Amino acid sequence: MSAEPSDDLVFLKACRREPVPHTPIWLMRQAGRYQASYQAIRSKVDFVGLCKTPELACQVTVDAVDQLGVDAAILFADILLILEPLGIGFRFEAGEGPRIDAPVRDAAAIDRVADEIDAAADLHYVMEAVRRIRRELDGRVALIGFAASPFTLASYAIEGQGSRDYRHCKTLMYSDEGAWNALMEKMSRAIAGYLNAQIDAGAQAVQLFDSWVGALSVADYRRYVFPHVKGIFEAIGGRVPTIHFGQGNPELYPAMREAGGDVISVDWRIRLDKAWDLVGHDRGIQGNMDPTAILGSRENMFAHAQAVLDQAGGRDGHIFNLGHGILRWSTVEQAKALVDYVHEQSAR
Ligand code: CP3
Repeated sequence: MSAEPSDDLVFLKACRREPVPHTPIWLMRQAGRYQASYQAIRSKVDFVGLCKTPELACQVTVDAVDQLGVDAAILFADILLILEPLGIGFRFEAGEGPRIDAPVRDAAAIDRVADEIDAAADLHYVMEAVRRIRRELDGRVALIGFAASPFTLASYAIEGQGSRDYRHCKTLMYSDEGAWNALMEKMSRAIAGYLNAQIDAGAQAVQLFDSWVGALSVADYRRYVFPHVKGIFEAIGGRVPTIHFGQGNPELYPAMREAGGDVISVDWRIRLDKAWDLVGHDRGIQGNMDPTAILGSRENMFAHAQAVLDQAGGRDGHIFNLGHGILRWSTVEQAKALVDYVHEQSAR
């Protein structure tokens, strides 16, 4: 897929740090509950059912692009879907977020996690969604595939739900490093295969979500996470542009860059220009407006957006995004105004 005309898409050019007519923008979690169209579909099917129905997953993915006018689509799925073929059951409680009923907390439980998955077969509904979305988009904008990093995935598998302190996760890390590494290796192999299968199906870029990595110090990141994440980027081997997202601890950005990613996606806790200095100007940068800035006044949101654009300084390789996912209390009108503002103000 690497030499087709879609390589001219603004988003893909920015990933490669090529000159672009305007700064591309998309929003993490751009398909979701803040949209009436999404709510209407969700009133008829539960969240996992939506993810597993390619026709509907395609529709919500493309609806977000059409409503916002963004420069990239992101596959509608969830980072936790891969737990099922790994043998770790999960469910979403209405309004409560993910739950794993039998958390993976010791060597015996880690032994029971699958050694290998066949991503194309086990997650066939994801691959079918990717193919449909590509067909439906018909080259208008690029399609981003994604997966969780092994740390963020393991944090759910071990804690059994979202966590503030990652107590069980870190207890395993600090008490049985062999078991921790065994779990990281199983998850990393599955994640790499899953991302490569999405690329085979037509994903034109992939993002690795390390949403909870900010819970770690740099030293612990390097020891317990870095080698595994590096292996995932090596397994993708430059087939498509890669985005490496982390949030919560800006000190991690140099190590994350070293682990891999053509583009590093950063949060609002650090100025974008400082983050880019840490990442290095031989990589792209994605971010980094505070998602709550969408909730305030329009003038305030534009001021936040302008600050991000000013800090990027019109340099090639900036992809505008939020520092984390769009919040469910956002409105489509306000999000669309942000997209239009970034396009207009960054036109060169
Ligand atoms: O960006 C997109 O539009 C694509 C869809 C997408 C979803 N989840 C849809 C979703 C993506 C990229 C994700 C990734 C994801 N899932 C992450 C990493 C991104 C991040 O925000 O850090 C994480 C940590 C998850 C796990 C997860 N899934 C959580 C914590 C929740 C929220 C639970 C809640 O009720 O608030 C989900 C559910 C989820 N994933 C929803 C959506 C639209 C809401 C489910 C619903 O419709 O009820």
